[in-house]
Amino acid sequence: MNPQLWLAPLHGITSHTFRNILCRHFGGIDCYMAPFLPSQPRGKLNKRVWQDIFPEHNSAVPLTPQLMGNRPDYLVDTMQILHELFGYEQFNLNIGCPSSPVVRHKRGCGLMPHPDLVERIVAEVTAKTPFRLSLKMRLGLHDAKEGRDLLSRLNGYPLDFLVIHPRLGDELYEGTPHWDLFEEFCSITRHRIVYSGDIFSKEDYKTLSEKFPMVFAWMLGRGMLRNPFLAEEIKNQEIGDKLSRFGIFYLDLVEALLPIRGENGTLANLKELWHYFAYFAQISDEELHSLLRIVVMKDFVEASIHLLHILK
Ligand SMILES: Cc1cc2nc3c(=O)[nH]c(=O)nc-3n(C[C@H](O)[C@H](O)[C@H](O)COP(=O)(O)O)c2cc1C
Repeated sequence: MNPQLWLAPLHGITSHTFRNILCRHFGGIDCYMAPFLPSQPRGKLNKRVWQDIFPEHNSAVPLTPQLMGNRPDYLVDTMQILHELFGYEQFNLNIGCPSSPVVRHKRGCGLMPHPDLVERIVAEVTAKTPFRLSLKMRLGLHDAKEGRDLLSRLNGYPLDFLVIHPRLGDELYEGTPHWDLFEEFCSITRHRIVYSGDIFSKEDYKTLSEKFPMVFAWMLGRGMLRNPFLAEEIKNQEIGDKLSRFGIFYLDLVEALLPIRGENGTLANLKELWHYFAYFAQISDEELHSLLRIVVMKDFVEASIHLLHILK
């Protein structure tokens, strides 16, 4: 079994530092999609925001950059510049992010109720650039009618693929994905489909891949954070001693984050990650809460390693 497994973009979590450490310690992931970056007009570039996709930060793994924005001209400018500077030839447009500040500015999932605008963006980018364009979307912001309408319109454009997370924006990450609607969406589109959502175990992957044979690649997001062995498990790879491998990965991650994020930034980052690592470490809510109350980075690392040792 050798399915295409891609790491989902998780803004604030799967930065290049995390991606590189993850790929040094765990196998099974074929390519990564970077968390979204803003699109900018040619004259007003803020190159600092591109650090995450600098080729020297991403030599180990094939990477698709993702852009956020609603101005076709800014998106075209940004893609052209990222191609000139870094050689990227394919880009993903985020029309699925449900966070309210993003949606309020008619970006991310806020674009889904505006099919004319999305179509204009896709038409302009595909006409004015030679780059491969893909979209990452939800079913809609408020209603799956939005996604249905959009998919029919997009059938006429040369898109590379569509990543579909089968929830509405309004649902954030709650409830279960709407697999019946996902199936319907697959039947509407003529584009290649990448599935994203709630693959937390090898069994989840098995069920979904049997149900949706038309999917050509599978994104793993929170599932890879809860269990970084997930891609290896799905591909039936040799895994060995999970606990010692996780422990070495964890220390490597802390060491890589410290010079970049400093003590406070590393602590904040680790706290966010432990919401997911708690599943791997099989700790209770109380144990997680007392871990998250720690305010000194070194104490936090010591306490979290202690929790991993208890697991033995
Ligand atoms: C904290 C967080 C940050 C995310 N950031 C992005 C992002 O930058 N771009 C994007 O397209 N999706 C983003 N997503 C959505 C994920 O890529 C993915 O589609 C979603 O989490 C469902 O997949 P999962 O259940 O495998 O995590 C984010 C999700 C979470 C939870």
